[in-house]
Amino acid sequence: MEKKWWHNKVAYQIYPKSFYDTNGDGIGDINGVIEKLDYLRDLGIDIIWLSPIYCSPLADQGYDISDYYDIDPRFGTIDDLDRLIEEGKKRGIGIVMDLVVNHCSDEHEWFKKACEDPDGEYGKFFYIEDYKDGDPLPCNWRSYFGGSVWEKLPGHDDKIYLHVFHKKQPDLNWENPKLRKDVYKMINWWLDKGIAGFRIDAIINIKKKLPFSDYPVDGDDGLSSIDNMLKEATGVGEFLNELADETFRKYDAFTVGEVFNEKDEELPLFIGSHGYFSTMFDFSAESTKEDISPENYKKAVFKAHERVDGIGFLSNIIENHDEPRGVSRFIPNEDLDDTSKKMLAGIYFLLPGLPFIYQGQEIGMENLDKVNDINDLDDCANANIYETALHEGKTHAEALAHLINVTRDNARTPFQWDDSANAGFTNGKPWLMVNPKYKHINLASQINDSDSVFNFYKELISLRKNPEYESTLVYGDFSPYKSEQKNLLAYSRVGEKSVMVIANYQKDAQTLSLPSKIKKVLLSNTSKTLDNSSFNSTEIVLSPYELLVVEMV
Ligand code: NOJ
Ligand code: CA
Repeated sequence: MEKKWWHNKVAYQIYPKSFYDTNGDGIGDINGVIEKLDYLRDLGIDIIWLSPIYCSPLADQGYDISDYYDIDPRFGTIDDLDRLIEEGKKRGIGIVMDLVVNHCSDEHEWFKKACEDPDGEYGKFFYIEDYKDGDPLPCNWRSYFGGSVWEKLPGHDDKIYLHVFHKKQPDLNWENPKLRKDVYKMINWWLDKGIAGFRIDAIINIKKKLPFSDYPVDGDDGLSSIDNMLKEATGVGEFLNELADETFRKYDAFTVGEVFNEKDEELPLFIGSHGYFSTMFDFSAESTKEDISPENYKKAVFKAHERVDGIGFLSNIIENHDEPRGVSRFIPNEDLDDTSKKMLAGIYFLLPGLPFIYQGQEIGMENLDKVNDINDLDDCANANIYETALHEGKTHAEALAHLINVTRDNARTPFQWDDSANAGFTNGKPWLMVNPKYKHINLASQINDSDSVFNFYKELISLRKNPEYESTLVYGDFSPYKSEQKNLLAYSRVGEKSVMVIANYQKDAQTLSLPSKIKKVLLSNTSKTLDNSSFNSTEIVLSPYELLVVEMV
């Protein structure tokens, strides 16, 4: 595999609104990120991905951009961002911005101009169709946040526009070369500023199957999931290749795609050595709909890595701002403790690919347990989840309980810095409730505790960067080990060294036969004495949720 500058990096996602507030308005800001740069450097982070901070009405928390060239005043200014880039560089940390170009905000000047003159230049930046009340809609697609993808064009009773996300996120028409050119110009403007690259939002959605047509109805709302259309939409590669040529490739930028629904044969095109992107997220476990068991988790993750073997790098996560907290999702509530949290960390972190940590994950932040009212939460996706649950026959209390399990707000509550008021996130009133668990889950209580989840993440990062093991952990071959053994999750990474990651993903002990003897214990999540000479046998007994990272003879 051709070596790239970013292969050995460790990345960290910041959701700026909830990271750290420096001016008491209850909203995290760029200055807050700057203040915490030393913290991130000490943890071992090389790349920061910032969720959007551009000007935005925040209908979908910044994924609805009204000016791509400026920073929303709630987050700071362009000067603050320049300072962040510079201060990051001093510490060897690259800044990755979020690139949201499937859609913009309905408050973007492009859309305002389109509303003024739908037949003019900017009308062609969007998908605008003629429509009279009573007519059938151009297609029956369901928007991701519920309801039809079509909405009346403001000021025009006889026109509608397409939005596959929120109605305040009109889709940009990538078929229009002028739109594409303007988008590339904007991307290069950012790259010229010295950012390291982009995380690329909802990029599969830029290609629509045209002309618009209906797909099989798959809900009581009479609509059809966008996925049905995406399966038939071909040709996104032509857009992506042009995008990469006009922008990223010129700068050797790091790019990570939010890619769904890709086909096997497309993988080399997406993430091969000369792919459209550097890497893409592995969502195989996160997007599993049903309750996920250790066996399902193993199958999903191993399959994802076998699928890209020899092709490219995946970016590994257990959570992000669109998911509930990973530890709450992947570990049964009754077993959730520091040991099981560290086990999950070790499993995903040492897989081939690039590890991403989502803010707060490194201190083991968990989901909310309860809220009294849907209005205690914020996300624009909540209403649809709640109402669908009611529609399916759940009571209000049940619908709320369901929402609490799945809402994206679980990941968006403020970072828990310490046990003071508002978890030390702000002196003001936080924009979203602080998770009451901050009293016992917070950074201050972990930073000097060598047994903490935080220090375990730190050890994982140092192990991946340890010159003795780096080439093995970055480039070594990956092979699942004994994947048929229930609730055992084990794999080897073999390069200059032979390393095994072994996890007992259950609350009972289990015995494991190893392929050879253990030479050295590199990392463990238990307080067992790590006496290397005690591993004389190839048979080991793993305690509940034990994780072992070992070098093999
Ligand atoms: C994916 C983003 O991660 C999510 O937060 C957002 O709602 C959609 N794309 C739309 O931009
Ligand atoms: Ca602030």
